[in-house]
Amino acid sequence: MDFVFSFINKAYLCNQILNTFCMETPNWSELSFGYMPTDYNIRCAYRNGKWGTLEITSDTTIPMHVAATSLHYGQEAFEGLKAFMGKDGKIRIFRPDENAKRLQSTCDGIMMPKMSTELFLEAVVKAVTLNKRFVPPYGSGASLYIRPLLIGTSPQVGVKPADEYLFLIFVMPVGPYFKEGFKPTPMVILRQYDRAAPLGTGTYKVGGNYAASLVAGEKAHAMGYSAVLYLDAKEKKYVDECGPANFFGIKNNTYITPESTSILPSITNKSLMQLARDMGMKVEQRRVPVEELSTFEEAGACGTAAVISPIIRIDDIVENISYQFSKNGEAGPVCTRLYEKLRAIQNGDEPDVHGWNVVID
Ligand code: PLP
Ligand code: COI
Repeated sequence: MDFVFSFINKAYLCNQILNTFCMETPNWSELSFGYMPTDYNIRCAYRNGKWGTLEITSDTTIPMHVAATSLHYGQEAFEGLKAFMGKDGKIRIFRPDENAKRLQSTCDGIMMPKMSTELFLEAVVKAVTLNKRFVPPYGSGASLYIRPLLIGTSPQVGVKPADEYLFLIFVMPVGPYFKEGFKPTPMVILRQYDRAAPLGTGTYKVGGNYAASLVAGEKAHAMGYSAVLYLDAKEKKYVDECGPANFFGIKNNTYITPESTSILPSITNKSLMQLARDMGMKVEQRRVPVEELSTFEEAGACGTAAVISPIIRIDDIVENISYQFSKNGEAGPVCTRLYEKLRAIQNGDEPDVHGWNVVID
């Protein structure tokens, strides 16, 4: 029997080694936004009231207690950020300190232990460095998506926070989130669905918000829309956000984006607001009444995965109203300028005047 186990173990190890050293890198120009195995993931456990050291593994599974709080009560958070290969051969990670801060805020929101910004950054840099061969080349249009995850691992059956947690980061090379890339796509208002309640968990990056969006999201896709534009859940009067991205509208040289207690504070949106100011535009972060959609010259969804996804049209199905933004099917001039500026900073083609990138030589 011992012989059988030792044989199985050896076969497993051989497989891991083969996976690690023989896994081919993908065809960069054909990448979409989907899971793909890479060489290593990074882990760090929280036990006895403190975070441990960073561990490196090629194992893509997690042994879990059947009563772990992440499984039963959704004590789970994630983050999303990207790394880019520059023309100079340096890798740039876009604003990881902001993801560290947002994860800390999420931890406060669902009673998980916070990790220091330093430890978070060390883990991100390690995950990217160890999987360097998966960072898509400069000019490919693709990037390395970095997915940190934090879960409650110890058992509770009463509704209480766990005592133990696991933080991990995996990475994967990705192409555009919406298959159309920078081509404008249609979105839809489905008034019979909400994603997050005001004063609920919408401002935190927790899995439950995404579970709550699945039915409406799939319905929108089946109807030919790329995403749902959610309205505020209380009054259905104001624009909230677009499925996995924030919303912005452009009119009269002004960048307008919703302020709401039920949307995720997007790091991309924060960056675009700064870039809009740098370009001499006015920026307004305020409630956006749904009827105001008819006044926008351009509109877009923005996020790490989506970058900027210009919106061609928003259909408010129940009210039977259609808001049109792009007349020729192309992105508008402001969306295009913002997109090009953001990509240029991320790729290292333009000076990073705000000090957003963490550069790995
Ligand atoms: N809103 C939601 C619901 C998201 O999932 C995301 C993606 O992270 C965003 C907005 C955009 O945030 P960020 O720009 O930080 O990626
Ligand atoms: C991101 O843009 O990083 C996201 O998390 C969006 C989505 C893939 C959930």
